[in-house]
Amino acid sequence: MKILVTGGAGYIGSHTCVELLNKDYEIIVVDNFSNSKMESLNRVKEITNKDFKIYNVDMCDYENFEKIFINEKIDGVIHFAGLKAVGESVSIPLKYYQNNLISTLNLIEFMKKYNVNNLVFSSSATVYGDPEIIPIPETAKLNATNPYGRTKLMIEEILRDFCVANKDFNVALLRYFNPIGAHKSGKIGEDPNGIPNNLLPYISQVAVGKLKKLRVFGNDYDTVDGTGVRDYIHVVDLALGHIKAIEKLLTNPGLVTYNLGTGNGTSVLEMIKAFEKASGVKINYEIVDRRPGDIASCYADPTKAKSELNWEAKYNIDDMCIDTWNWQKNNPNGYN
Ligand code: NAD
Ligand code: WQD
Repeated sequence: MKILVTGGAGYIGSHTCVELLNKDYEIIVVDNFSNSKMESLNRVKEITNKDFKIYNVDMCDYENFEKIFINEKIDGVIHFAGLKAVGESVSIPLKYYQNNLISTLNLIEFMKKYNVNNLVFSSSATVYGDPEIIPIPETAKLNATNPYGRTKLMIEEILRDFCVANKDFNVALLRYFNPIGAHKSGKIGEDPNGIPNNLLPYISQVAVGKLKKLRVFGNDYDTVDGTGVRDYIHVVDLALGHIKAIEKLLTNPGLVTYNLGTGNGTSVLEMIKAFEKASGVKINYEIVDRRPGDIASCYADPTKAKSELNWEAKYNIDDMCIDTWNWQKNNPNGYN
């Protein structure tokens, strides 16, 4: 089976490429490298000892993107490509709407034209906004609160409409919680541009000495210790969830939606402790004001993915911290 992996050079995409190749899927990657480096794919080849074709193409570039479908016989698509920084999406919303929506519209137009009927889409727990029920089931109210989140919600709706009109089309909407960690080899991992927005890359850059101090955004939330609680999931568990989703699509289910999370919540202070234990490095931090737009708690009810996909997360927070640290200390400057 030949899978087109869009955004395959990125953080989650590169880990999923490894797991696909390990399971003997044939893959092709399309990426415009706007938020990634070719080196991540060199490392995927090194880890798996397998080769694959890479198209350096912007999916918003209609003609060049279509050429991939003309050249290749594709059986399914995993669509990771997209811009993902929440704060940036508030400052430059049009770039987010243009990039994330146009790339996806082009993709499904070509999938229909070239008869490719199986799509796994990277959605996000961000579509739940500030959740009314925790743990969050897939049936919870949807309410994105920033332009990035709205692109995810809009794409989910576009895909729902598309599936109503195209009965042969199968889509798995995968709503990820907070992916962290790295491949065991320490050769691939998360390599954010500039100062990281997310907690784990920030902590690990403090640990490696690139950043001085972590700012903990608020300790007055209604949580176990006042700091924000999230459902962190190992990126390799997440990658394996995509393979289960592809297997599910082959049973012609139409549109299906799954949370990919562990079902466990971890606070910022608990995460700092776990990272200190994994790395043996003391994390310098200070408590500052809440970050605008943050919520107190967010974790998944992952039972649907377990019963319907036969998937559940295997790695715990200690594993996630050990693997993040292994990647960071071996690659203090990421892929540079
Ligand atoms: P990433 O930025 O590391 O990877 C995305 C990749 O898409 C990058 O390699 C980028 O260069 C590429 N890309 C962006 N626009 C493109 C375009 N127009 N044409 C071709 N390539 C393009 O992000 P990630 O963390 O691996 O996330 C993958 C997907 O999962 C994204 O859609 C993201 O929104 C979603 N997601 C991520 C998280 C998270 O916390 N990392 C959580 C939930 C959902
Ligand atoms: C986690 C916790 C912060 C940084 C974001 C997106 C979401 C999804 C995943 C894509 C919170 C605290 C953080 C720091 C801190 N991405 N924190 N100091 O906000 O849950 O989710 O990434 O879909 O859409 O919003 O993740 O890692 O930024 O924050 O105290 O320097 O860590 O307040 O409680 P978040 P995060």
